[in-house]
Amino acid sequence: MEVVIAPTGEVGRLGADAVTQLLAGRPAAVLGLATGSSPLSTYAELIRRHRAEGLSFAQVTAFTLDEYVGLAADHPQRYRNVIATEFTDHVDLDPAAVHGPDGLAEDLVAACAAYEAALTAAGGVDLQILGIGADGHIAFNEPGSSLASRTRIKTLTPQTRIDNARFFGGDVEAVPVHCLTQGIGTIMAARHLVLLATGRGKAEAIHQLVEGPVSAMWPASVLQFHPHVSVIVDEAAASRLQLGAYYRDTWANKPVWQGF
Ligand code: F6R
Repeated sequence: MEVVIAPTGEVGRLGADAVTQLLAGRPAAVLGLATGSSPLSTYAELIRRHRAEGLSFAQVTAFTLDEYVGLAADHPQRYRNVIATEFTDHVDLDPAAVHGPDGLAEDLVAACAAYEAALTAAGGVDLQILGIGADGHIAFNEPGSSLASRTRIKTLTPQTRIDNARFFGGDVEAVPVHCLTQGIGTIMAARHLVLLATGRGKAEAIHQLVEGPVSAMWPASVLQFHPHVSVIVDEAAASRLQLGAYYRDTWANKPVWQGF
């Protein structure tokens, strides 16, 4: 696991560097896209590079991590719509190549199985962008989630519904109770995981992810078992790391040819 500690304003650029590096060698890459606030600066930088430098997503296939159950197709907080608004509509990514779990399916179990099948048919995810919850969740895999789980229906914790109420006009009751989410096992199957976090509110989760014991109580800690993880954090999110000086030194001395 590589830990990169950077100024807050650099986190998005570094996330975009990882994607740009992948696309340079593999224009038809499969990208895994997170919603939430953490990847927004990375998406903004990728959009800038698309416009200013011709970075192309024309051959890319994309898969989102999760989706609320029951939100209307045109609801602005439906994650399929959020990712379009925040990112994919602003680059040359074919809308038909952006996939998400179907939270409106009549048969949600079948929809989860179909999503797993689509991921497999696409050859798996080359690079998965991740955020992390203050409680260590990744996608909607809350504490206690099976570390081997696959895409399935989950019940959101009251805290996550409170946290996400800011996207629903502050109305907690408007936040769906259920979601479909890639499982932790699904996420672990991606070939490169790029986790982005900023702010002191993420500091304990980042410490547990990088340095804690692997435990379902901090679902992201399972990433310690993944062979290729880049954790890109700002100083505040890094503030509880015990080996911060070592991570800084390693990054400062990283051979340029190595990339992400
Ligand atoms: C969103 C997702 C969530 C968020 C996490 C952090 O698709 O998978 O796990 O990454 O809740 O959210 P932000 O980035 O808003 O702090």
